[in-house]
Amino acid sequence: MPVSIENILLKEDFSHADLVLLLNAQGQDKTKLYTRSAEVKKQFVGNKVYFRGLVELSNICSKNCLYCGIRAGNTKPDRYMVTEEEVLEAAQFALENGYGSMVLQSGERCDGQFVDTVSNLLQKIKELSGGKLGITLSLGEQTEKTYREWYANGAHRYLIRIETSDRELYYKIHPNNKKHDFDIRINALTLLRDIGYNVGSGVMIGLPFQTIEHLANDLLFLKQLDVDMVGMGPFIEHEDTPLYEFKDLLWPKKERFDVSLKMVALLRIMMKDINIAATTAMQAIDKQGREKALKVGANIIMPNLTPVKYREDYLLYEDKPCLDEDASECRNCLEARIHMAGDEIGFNEWGDSKHFTKRTISTKE
Ligand code: 5AD
Ligand code: SF4
Ligand code: FES
Repeated sequence: MPVSIENILLKEDFSHADLVLLLNAQGQDKTKLYTRSAEVKKQFVGNKVYFRGLVELSNICSKNCLYCGIRAGNTKPDRYMVTEEEVLEAAQFALENGYGSMVLQSGERCDGQFVDTVSNLLQKIKELSGGKLGITLSLGEQTEKTYREWYANGAHRYLIRIETSDRELYYKIHPNNKKHDFDIRINALTLLRDIGYNVGSGVMIGLPFQTIEHLANDLLFLKQLDVDMVGMGPFIEHEDTPLYEFKDLLWPKKERFDVSLKMVALLRIMMKDINIAATTAMQAIDKQGREKALKVGANIIMPNLTPVKYREDYLLYEDKPCLDEDASECRNCLEARIHMAGDEIGFNEWGDSKHFTKRTISTKE
């Protein structure tokens, strides 16, 4: 008897084989997957989308990930660090426009000066907003002491994408050295969780050498890690990076997008109450990429609040959208997109994942 997609979709837990089958779904089967994931989203997280105003603090990075346009080895971008005033202006915009939270993201730096700068920014944002703005950090691997210091200063969510859960593939897309250590990266996620952060991770989809089997394992990995938030999207080649050499091995962009959408839908079914971002990289391939991601299960959007003059220099990948649009333009654009997707915006709320709330209440009992 042929396996029916309906029956697989109703299972409590997907096996690796189920996931491979679902990631390959086409036509009506794919529609059934999206119908199911939209149902799960509606039932478990509702139709509210939360905004996280993103400030790309600095493109100075000490690492050399082989896929990334701002890797230390690329001499093309002008290196910048936003000023405190600019960050606080962005925070003020977020506050005035009802964005519940901000994300501070940057290339990876661990020196004392950077750690202090971030601590100071956290204090100032908390002060300016009277504690109203939630703060997510996406600042790479740091020492436990630094994670604790930033948590004490008011950050309460932290994102570290594992990029791929496959050790061998990890070292095909990173240099194999101490600075790019797979185990340290995985361990960071546990450390952050123990400190008390909402923990986020994610992967890139359609990397050279990556297979559907790898991606099925990535989904199982995120589930096993019990993360609270996920951001994932298609890999997009960047001309000035070492991985560009393998561009002929890549799946066509449309296919990378298609599989990314299925990854979002499947993760929503597997981890019903987490926060999932509709990522900018999805929109770099498909003009309606973020709306499509919302429709099949995502519930978080990160409008860009980085001052426009820096955006050209924060190109992790090609075709990154919103290079010329300022904060107000992106806000208007996103509001329209969210309404088109049939969702509404959760203004003035932190919008922590229900998953985090549940797991922390149950450990306190
Ligand atoms: N394509 C897609 N995503 C990328 N990132 C970095 N470079 C690329 C690329 N070329 C993602 C990584 C990183 C996040 C900040 O941006 O997943 O964790
Ligand atoms: Fe640096 Fe992050 Fe780019 Fe890696 S992905 S080179 S850590 S900015
Ligand atoms: Fe920036 Fe649409 S989100 S222009």
